[in-house]
Amino acid sequence: MTLHTTRLVPTAAGLADAAKLLQNGALVAFPTETVYGLGADARQGEAVARIYTAKGRPTFNPLIVHVADSTAAKTYVEWPAQADTLARLFWPGPLTLVLPLRAGHGLSPLVTAGLPTVGIRVPAHTVAHELLRAFGGPVAAPSANPSGRISPTTADHVVAGLKGRIAAVVDGGACDVGLESTIIGFDGPNAVLLREGGLPSEQIETALGTPLLGAQAGAITAPGQMSSHYAPKGAVRLNAISARRGEHFLGFGAIAGDLTLSASGDTAEAAANLFGHLHRLDAMGGPIAVAPIPMEGLGRAINDRLARAAAPRD
Ligand code: TXA
Ligand code: MG
Repeated sequence: MTLHTTRLVPTAAGLADAAKLLQNGALVAFPTETVYGLGADARQGEAVARIYTAKGRPTFNPLIVHVADSTAAKTYVEWPAQADTLARLFWPGPLTLVLPLRAGHGLSPLVTAGLPTVGIRVPAHTVAHELLRAFGGPVAAPSANPSGRISPTTADHVVAGLKGRIAAVVDGGACDVGLESTIIGFDGPNAVLLREGGLPSEQIETALGTPLLGAQAGAITAPGQMSSHYAPKGAVRLNAISARRGEHFLGFGAIAGDLTLSASGDTAEAAANLFGHLHRLDAMGGPIAVAPIPMEGLGRAINDRLARAAAPRD
């Protein structure tokens, strides 16, 4: 079935329309500071199931639940001291906490893929925040792109990928951070880094005063971290010093390309530009070469996404 996808402006009236659609079980894409999310009421199983259909997600990976503040989060999850420390410092912001579900949480089991835990976050984007307030409930939202493709950082990216498959997109401009949230879980008292993302992991280590465990070493993992992901149509070649014949070149720092992530070598600027530049190079068609990105600040998360974009596909 083809839907008419409405583009909503983030005024009080537009957000009231968006909230109403969510209440009715429809899918609404909305901006967060990381990437655009594809939202559904996290308590309605059918609405959540539509997310998987719209994205063409092959399996039921657990989704992140978005709430307006920590008080709302605590109604769904248990709240250890480390979570409180991190939430006080980094929420609202690009951090997802994976925590044990509380009894009577009311979330659809499709959100958690049947796990006893859920990933939860309070987004910092004003439009996301106002939408969550207007809706007044938990919103499950993966990135608003077809499964396996480049994540969306503008409403145009969302429309290009999902037009006809979702009810609406709230246009809130370009996302500031440009990379999905950093995901932290807990193995007993130890914090485990499940996904590098928009909050540099060293800031979390400084806040906790202990190093983060790696997901491989810990007992828990983040399901759905498929190796081929974020993929443009053409092949992607990493750590390139210059373009080969036919390649479009994505530069960084002193190595300029057809498009450059950050001429000054700033990894935060590069993160904000990453998916938008990949979308533009992808639209030109053909293979893409990417200059080396240092493993510092947001560089680790950028390299993680680039490695998945370059990974062999099924
Ligand atoms: O910035 C973001 O995080 C964006 C915006 C929209 O908020 N959302 C996002 O969602 O990136 P998604 O679906 O692409 O990533 C969700 C990932 C899953 O693949 C999984 O790795 C992890 O979150 N996750 C969710 N619930 C989990 C759980 N209970 N245990 C472990 N990992 C979980
Ligand atoms: Mg995604």
